[in-house]
Amino acid sequence: MSTLEIDRVRKSYSSLAVLKEVSISINTGDFLVLLGPSGCGKSTLLNMIAGLETITGGEIRIAGKVVNDLSPKDRDIAMVFQSYALYPTMTVRQNIEFGMKIRGVSPGEREAAVKAAADMLQITHLLDRKPSQLSGGQRQRVAMGRAIVRQPKLFLFDEPLSNLDAKLRVDMRTEIKRLHARLGTTIVYVTHDQIEAMTLATRVAVMKDGVVQHLDEPQAVYDRPANVYVARFVGSPAMNIVPACLEVQGATATVVFDIANRPSSRISGIPVSEQAARKYSGRKVLAGIRPENFAVAANGADANLVVDVDVVEPTGPDTLVVFQLGGAEVTARLPPKQALPGSEARLVVDTSRIVLFDADTEARID
Ligand SMILES: Nc1ncnc2c1ncn2[C@@H]1O[C@H](COP(=O)(O)OP(=O)(O)OP(=O)(O)O)[C@@H](O)[C@H]1O
Ligand SMILES: [Mg+2]
Repeated sequence: MSTLEIDRVRKSYSSLAVLKEVSISINTGDFLVLLGPSGCGKSTLLNMIAGLETITGGEIRIAGKVVNDLSPKDRDIAMVFQSYALYPTMTVRQNIEFGMKIRGVSPGEREAAVKAAADMLQITHLLDRKPSQLSGGQRQRVAMGRAIVRQPKLFLFDEPLSNLDAKLRVDMRTEIKRLHARLGTTIVYVTHDQIEAMTLATRVAVMKDGVVQHLDEPQAVYDRPANVYVARFVGSPAMNIVPACLEVQGATATVVFDIANRPSSRISGIPVSEQAARKYSGRKVLAGIRPENFAVAANGADANLVVDVDVVEPTGPDTLVVFQLGGAEVTARLPPKQALPGSEARLVVDTSRIVLFDADTEARID
């Protein structure tokens, strides 16, 4: 069942269009991540789902019901903000049960709900403390506890981990994933962190300037990004985008790269559709190659790419090797100690994973 439908939703502040015809639909149990850079409209969209912002155009439906004109408290949602918004004068217990108290839930039921949520979040020993006596991560758990006890149809999270240090952020990410698995609830989660999006989401919407660029499962977004923007935003180091010329031979193609001080390099055997072959044969394209899709040729003769190594950056588990290709700076992720600066590297590119983009529109070529 579709729990949330965002149907051609628009938002303007006077003449400024912040969201332009956004359409996203997710099913019960989905974990939707709204991913994009600062200012792209993520919080605005989340706040519109919550009822904290008016909707300029289009429709939002929760469990089939249009909520455009419903007040936040009637939408059956719970929201966790970046700032947690805990009541400073109340204890953790009072913070968690406050909403239930307002709704007239009996003391016995409240007690049981607080206990269950506190156990799950491992904050039982903190129930009598005030928020000021908690660490950032503990506060974050309390804010989640408050959301859980409401048993809403939809959880909304706006960058809930951005105030935490790097280590805690990774721990809490795992907690949120576990929580989602245990409760099976539907979640909409805002972040600008592509790793959070990849690890948590069942569906990712990559946004830019108020427009959804790509909506799909995280692996599909990673493997077959809709355009160059998405390709560069998801994955670190980013996907290499290399200008090339496309030559077609039946069902496969060759990309031809110019390399400074060397004969141009040709990588053959890239699968292309009949339609793409017809349209792009002999034309300039952009070849998208992930850093991990390069390997060192086991036998020098197997190499389909020979380059001059510019910079070598060891990261521990592997080494980032930087070189020039087709006029672009390219990064390959290789095993440690496989390349030296200033030396020649004989590489193999996994042709099945190369993604081609239109050089003008920057849209993926299918
Ligand atoms: N009340 C407002 N009046 C005018 N413009 C606004 C208002 N609120 C937000 N905006 C603009 O709308 C755009 C989207 O803002 P929004 O807060 O949704 O971005 P965001 O993607 O959540 O960014 P961040 O990652 O920085 O939180 C921004 O350009 C912002 O300046
Ligand atoms: Mg925001």
